Amino acid sequence: MILRYELPPQAEKLIELSGDERIYYAVPIDLDDDGNWTDDRFLVVTTRKVCVISGDKIKTYEISALSKAKAEPGVGSGILTVDDMGTGRILAHYSAKHLSRYAYVARGINILISGRFEEVESSEYEKICPHCGHVIPGTSECPKCSGKGSHFGVFVKLVMSYKKDFFGVFLTMVLVAIATLLNPEVQKNLINNVLQKDGSLKTAFMYLGLMFALSVSIVIINVTKSNLSARLGAKIAGDLRKQLFEKYQKLPLRFINERRPGELLNRITEDTKFVSGFMADIFCNLFAILFIFIWDVIFMLVINLKLALMTLVLVPIVSVLMFHFQKTIGRIYHLQFKKNDDVSSDLQDVLSGMRVVKSYGKESRESGRFKLLSNGLAFVQQRNDRYWAFNDLVISSIMGMGLVIVVYFGGRDVFAQKMSAGELYQFISYTILLFAYVGWLDRLPREFSRLTSCLERIYDVLAQEVREEDPAKLQEVDIKGEITFDHATFGYKSYQPVLSDINAVIKPGEMIGIVGASGTGKSTLINLLMRLYETDDGRILVDGVDMKEISRNSYHSQLGVVLQETFLFSGTIIDNIRFSRPDALVEEIIRAAKLANAHDFISRLPDGYNTYVGEKGHTLSGGERQRIAIARAILTDPKILILDEATASLDTESEFMIQTALDRLTRGKTTFAIAHRLSTLKNADRIMVIDGHSIAEIGTHAELLNNKGIYYNLFTAQMR
Ligand SMILES: Nc1ncnc2c1ncn2[C@@H]1O[C@H](COP(=O)(O)OP(=O)(O)OP(=O)(O)O)[C@@H](O)[C@H]1O
Ligand SMILES: [Mg+2]
Repeated sequence: MILRYELPPQAEKLIELSGDERIYYAVPIDLDDDGNWTDDRFLVVTTRKVCVISGDKIKTYEISALSKAKAEPGVGSGILTVDDMGTGRILAHYSAKHLSRYAYVARGINILISGRFEEVESSEYEKICPHCGHVIPGTSECPKCSGKGSHFGVFVKLVMSYKKDFFGVFLTMVLVAIATLLNPEVQKNLINNVLQKDGSLKTAFMYLGLMFALSVSIVIINVTKSNLSARLGAKIAGDLRKQLFEKYQKLPLRFINERRPGELLNRITEDTKFVSGFMADIFCNLFAILFIFIWDVIFMLVINLKLALMTLVLVPIVSVLMFHFQKTIGRIYHLQFKKNDDVSSDLQDVLSGMRVVKSYGKESRESGRFKLLSNGLAFVQQRNDRYWAFNDLVISSIMGMGLVIVVYFGGRDVFAQKMSAGELYQFISYTILLFAYVGWLDRLPREFSRLTSCLERIYDVLAQEVREEDPAKLQEVDIKGEITFDHATFGYKSYQPVLSDINAVIKPGEMIGIVGASGTGKSTLINLLMRLYETDDGRILVDGVDMKEISRNSYHSQLGVVLQETFLFSGTIIDNIRFSRPDALVEEIIRAAKLANAHDFISRLPDGYNTYVGEKGHTLSGGERQRIAIARAILTDPKILILDEATASLDTESEFMIQTALDRLTRGKTTFAIAHRLSTLKNADRIMVIDGHSIAEIGTHAELLNNKGIYYNLFTAQMR
């Protein structure tokens, strides 16, 4: 996200920088005090002051006089306020597109107020292009403003990294081109030297043999070329897929959350498929066809200049027509793809929500809706097919006309002995080749533009910078289990903190119950503990070491998690338990399952531990899945345990089973347990109540009851 815009010179002149003073942030103020759009206002923050520039006027606030900056989001806009020696001042009004930007700037100003000269950085994307104002569709760069040229450059670089494979394809392309161009020459000689001059049978056979050999070699080289280029395409797509997948694993969860899963999936499946198809069908023919096309025209001009010019006039006409057809076809195909998407996403929706559909008896309504969508697709498909047929008819007619011209005028030249019959035949062959490739070449711009948009989406992911862990700087620790929250602040959206200024010290082995109303940030707190997200401000320390300085491997191998929704991968039960520690022995797994109260139900399954559980483990009940999750956690013998609603929505018997399993698991481990039903937290040493973005109360059950605060109210309400 841009936090330092280029200022117009007159605005820059107004800011008088002294000595070592530097500009940290410069952002547009796009609304005036009455909420009307403006474009001549800027907020500039230097190391010493905050300036509000409006046209040729400037108002300056010394940082030393400020005590707090705040970016407050409203509906569709926001304001930046500062506390200036005790008086609140509004510095800027801005529209929704700058909400995040101002949140960063406010944070930056507060850092300067605290006396630190640090700039805040933002890896967040611009949702709206700062240049053209259009919404950026899921990529980090605006596709309208980022030059297609740069993506083409990326493509060339990509191909160049497969030089060896590409060389083979290139060689076959040249050979095919030469063989294709030679064929009409041989045919000419056959006609001129044998048919017209009563040549001997021997020469006739020689030419026929040559023609045969050329045709066969064209077929053989073409097959080789297709194989080589398909291999090259598959290799490139395979590598891209691998790179994308690896990148997805490394990217912060924030990136994944900001995009729709379908979109990310499509980059791996659809976009790479297009790239491989392009390599196999278009790119591998590109040079051969260009080569043939150019020489074809040259040969035609050499054989008969006048005739060639007459024929070539048709090329731009066909070309322009085709271009227009392509454009319309692109549009109507777009509609077809969209309808296709609608049909498949509806299908996916209904199939995955089948239980809801059936339970509400809405099958016929869903069928009706699907029929409507399907008919829509069929209609567009039929229309597109008709359009294609019409297109073919027009183009073929023009080409046919071209051939008639060639035969008529060429024939006259043959009778006038300006041209031999063999040459006419050769000319006709070249004309047919020419027309065949005009259409192909016309398709190129569209295919290239599709390729660049695919590459754009792929490279948008690959170009993401991931902060690689530097193993030298990271510590491998033996966790004892002390957790300290030190002014920890975090929000999924930078301008909306979910948790702010969390402070607490949790002793090793302590069990902390986390309670609070729905949506207050309990799961968010444990997301931070699981290191799914990093704090925006402040720190979380583990045994006194900043969590960010502990190697992820070392940390996660000592962390156990049991969540409300247990995710089981497709595979056997034993694989699913082993997921947390792939090197665990079978005996250890069984022991863990026994401690988790899971052994009995697993043994009762027909295939026992080798029972295959499908995607999301739909074949197991909620309680059974949860016990597998507990076994998973037991297996790693974690030092820190996280339980998010681990016993919610279970019947009393399974809850009892799980509760006893959990009691075994949590003994002596620092545990954070979220529960709505407070009775399940009876073993907790202390209870933390989250409310209003922070810890509202913390203490033992008895202390909190005595306080008569939020916990007291919750508890008495549940006892009733
Ligand atoms: N991935 C996300 N992206 C954006 N906002 C989120 C995300 N996850 C949660 N939130 C928001 O953050 C806030 C806190 O959510 P959180 O899941 O931490 O609540 P919770 O206390 O666990 O609630 P519950 O008791 O219902 O589970 C909510 O307002 C929620 O809408
Ligand atoms: Mg939650």
